[in-house]
Amino acid sequence: MIRALREWARRHTERSRYSPVGVAFHWIMAFLVLFQLGWGYYTSWIPAGGDKLYAYQVHSAVGLPILLLALARFAWRLLIPGPMNDADTQGWQSQFAYAIHYVFYIAFFGLPLTGWAMWSATAEPGPLYLAGVVPWPQLPFDQLSLEQSWRIMQAAETIHFWLVITLLIVIPLHVGAALKHHFWDRHDVLRGMLPEIPDAEDPRAAPQHRPREPRIPNEKAAG
Ligand code: HEM
Ligand code: HEM
Repeated sequence: MIRALREWARRHTERSRYSPVGVAFHWIMAFLVLFQLGWGYYTSWIPAGGDKLYAYQVHSAVGLPILLLALARFAWRLLIPGPMNDADTQGWQSQFAYAIHYVFYIAFFGLPLTGWAMWSATAEPGPLYLAGVVPWPQLPFDQLSLEQSWRIMQAAETIHFWLVITLLIVIPLHVGAALKHHFWDRHDVLRGMLPEIPDAEDPRAAPQHRPREPRIPNEKAAG
């Protein structure tokens, strides 16, 4: 089964493309995270009351699926190696890009987990629903003293906040690098993360594409 999946993915990765599963994970999660950043910020400005509570319920309902998607994506990423592309050199820029990918994965887990902890540590926890539909349990904090709950709340809130700040720094770097590689360097990095265009309809003629030299061996895709 895993071998068959790898074979299927290899047909994409050997052409410097992420598999359709990888592409779907990327854009669905990118959209959800960007929504959460905007909605979370908006929610933090609503005066205390019913509207704010409702807005946080929406924030949680959208945020909890990110945790499940992160688990599935992480498992997928462990099983299915990503592609090598023009931007994969042994230089610092590649290392930096991979470091940012790791930071994203930390945020994919850290934000929902700390959000869930905050929600569970409040004195009168409201109900939580995955995607607004499926009931989601509270973490078992109800036996804790008020002081312990308060400490968990403080720690989770601080981590949530700093993960948000981290995302606000690394997302522009990530998006900026993707655009720079595409428009400036004419590398195939962004194209590998977009739905595939048949050669006949491709607006960028082959000579316009400039592979970076020297390429390092395609060992990631071969793994
Ligand atoms: C990737 C997913 C998430 C992102 C990007 C995100 C983003 C944000 C942002 C931008 C804020 C406002 C700034 C701040 O106070 O830190 C915020 C606050 C908050 N988020 Fe999230 N969030 C995510 C997931 C979740 C989840 C799943 C929950 C609950 C289950 C949650 C619960 C909260 C709460 C309770 C606050 C208010 C914190 C406070 O009172 O200071 N978040 N989030
Ligand atoms: C909206 C503009 C965005 C563009 C144009 C973009 C573009 C790309 C490209 C071209 C890659 C492939 C990089 C490579 O293989 O070296 C990539 C990978 C990745 N991007 Fe984005 N991205 C965007 C937004 C985001 C956001 C908002 C997040 C996270 C919140 C994100 C998380 C990731 C992750 C984790 C990877 C690594 C793929 C994996 O192995 O799972 N991206 N992105």
